[in-house]
Amino acid sequence: GLLGSEMCIRHRYINNKRDLPWRENKDPYRVWISEIILQQTRVVQGTKYYNKFIKKFPNIQSLASSKESEVLNIWKGLGYYNRAINLHKSSQDIISNLDGKFPETYDEIIKLKGVGDYTASAISSICFNEFNPVVDGNVLRLLSRYYGLKTPIDSLNAQRKIKEIGQKLINKTNNPGDFNQSMMEFGALVCTPFPDCESCVFSSKCIAFNKKEVEIIPVKSKKKKSKERFFNYIVCIDNNHNTIVNKRSNKDIWYKLNEFPLIESKREIKNITTLPEFKEFTKSKSIVINEEKYKKERIKHILSHQILYITFHHLSIDQDISQGVHLSNLNKYNFPVPITNFINKLLI
Ligand code: ADE
Repeated sequence: GLLGSEMCIRHRYINNKRDLPWRENKDPYRVWISEIILQQTRVVQGTKYYNKFIKKFPNIQSLASSKESEVLNIWKGLGYYNRAINLHKSSQDIISNLDGKFPETYDEIIKLKGVGDYTASAISSICFNEFNPVVDGNVLRLLSRYYGLKTPIDSLNAQRKIKEIGQKLINKTNNPGDFNQSMMEFGALVCTPFPDCESCVFSSKCIAFNKKEVEIIPVKSKKKKSKERFFNYIVCIDNNHNTIVNKRSNKDIWYKLNEFPLIESKREIKNITTLPEFKEFTKSKSIVINEEKYKKERIKHILSHQILYITFHHLSIDQDISQGVHLSNLNKYNFPVPITNFINKLLI
């Protein structure tokens, strides 16, 4: 039953495909950028970032000759900042090692930093007509339902199985790029997490539908509990409106973005001034805390695998901060979104 289905999905795609900016032509640079952005964002939101990115960096050359901080600036709010750093590094790699020419085969494309099977399959099929099936979350959902597969989709086993099925399907087509995009698009628009199966053209053949298992497929193995972290930001501001800004350097979330001095704790801190790390910090900066000029602001910020409980400890101090950053210059730094939001409130 696969073949008729394949035709049907592709037919639907060709007639209804969304008018997305990276589908205007098959420039591999643009398809690369769009696929990296779409790995972490839905199409509507991703399109805004894509347009911004391409306006600023219309080709490999312009990306390679930019500063990393400029790339991070465009990426701000998308998360997974390593992906932006990898795009930047890969563009420089293409300029210096590949004569500035984007690689044209799956085997060469996958060598780029930050490119895995998904991205290499997408680019090589869309731009170079290679028959490599894309397996993303949408395709996993669609195919595991259609074939009634109950292997947990977050297992390597299921991904291998789906890849194999995808390979058989794509080999029977004559347009692998359209096939892959139609599968992703069908998963995104029709075979959604909460689908309307009654109006789906595949319902008569879909095993999950016929066994009333649509709601349990795709099966996920026990979800890891999100890690909870407690971030305490020390926002001290002196009488000249200077504050302290650091750059994150550990391989952790928000790598290379800026932040205020941070004390991470194992649990919620009621009174930061009693904490040894805080005492050490104030001593090293020769700061004396006046508890009457101390305001706290708490927020909860949810990331894909972490929950951050962020407390901004807002302190007005009478000692001058040496080599501080003036509040009016904070907009020159790249902060993660929750910190930017705090700053915006601070400044009004
Ligand atoms: N999701 C990610 N990439 C896509 C593409 N090229 N077409 C449709 N949906 C997608």
